Amino acid sequence: MGLSEKYRPKQLSDLWQGLDHLAIRVVAGELQNNKLSGPTLFTAPYGGGKTTIARITAMRTTCLQPGNHPFEPCLSCKACRSILGVIASRPYFADPYGYSEIDCAKVSFDEVCRWVLSEAASPRMWSEDSAFNLNVVILDEFGRLTIPQQKKFLKLLEVSRCLCILCCADEDDLDPAIRQRCSIRPLGLPSAELCVKHVCDMAVAEGGTANQDAARWLSQRCGNNPREIIKVLGDALTLGAGNLDLTSAESALKLRSG
Ligand SMILES: Nc1ncnc2c1ncn2[C@@H]1O[C@H](COP(=O)(O)OP(=O)(O)OP(=O)(O)O)[C@@H](O)[C@H]1O
Ligand SMILES: [Mg+2]
Ligand SMILES: [Zn+2]
Repeated sequence: MGLSEKYRPKQLSDLWQGLDHLAIRVVAGELQNNKLSGPTLFTAPYGGGKTTIARITAMRTTCLQPGNHPFEPCLSCKACRSILGVIASRPYFADPYGYSEIDCAKVSFDEVCRWVLSEAASPRMWSEDSAFNLNVVILDEFGRLTIPQQKKFLKLLEVSRCLCILCCADEDDLDPAIRQRCSIRPLGLPSAELCVKHVCDMAVAEGGTANQDAARWLSQRCGNNPREIIKVLGDALTLGAGNLDLTSAESALKLRSG
């Protein structure tokens, strides 16, 4: 498993933006109050954590032991473990606990519609303890649908009985009516300070050391983009025999820029 999958956040508190971030705070609050019911749209630049936060939200929604924490998924019940098992990005995934995801960039529009209709109707293995009794569908890369397709989808969104979670990198790709219909949760990118902290923590967790200046420089050169940072950090740790310093960071960045 690469570092990027190994360090994919499993709970809201693992996201580099932190629990203080406005979008994360509101999602945590909705999950805590069992109020998440309308369609939700996560936006962030590529590699900023859209698919990750969508899965965490869905995991809490279908979690069979929500009593373990006010808003985080338990990570140990069958439903949580099923979602944690979705590693590679595949066009479809569905489990018996009411979770499914579909990548709108990889399938036809008809398939997307059929998927949402059938998921809304499919029975789910309930638990009396489950906080939400909703099937959840993640529509990843929703902005890859054309505007006319999104307009058609809007009708489905209105009648669908499942919780639709949309992910989109660029809000400009969205039909205005879709934006209006959804609760928008812009994740953005973590601050430079938070990136530096997480880079240092990861280097140490990997058994190495980290120089703060090197971590700062690496984060800055990667535009504070977590996925970019993690890729370069992996190379830097390999090149630096476990150590992130200015030399290993520079070599890794050189590789990156080709
Ligand atoms: N906010 C974040 N906090 C911590 N790690 C992150 C974050 N965002 C991305 N990552 C890292 O990058 C990887 C990819 O994240 P993810 O797939 O959620 O991004 P995305 O926004 O959906 O990207 P894309 O636009 O390509 O679909 C994760 O496995 C994780 O390692
Ligand atoms: Mg994604
Ligand atoms: Zn659980």
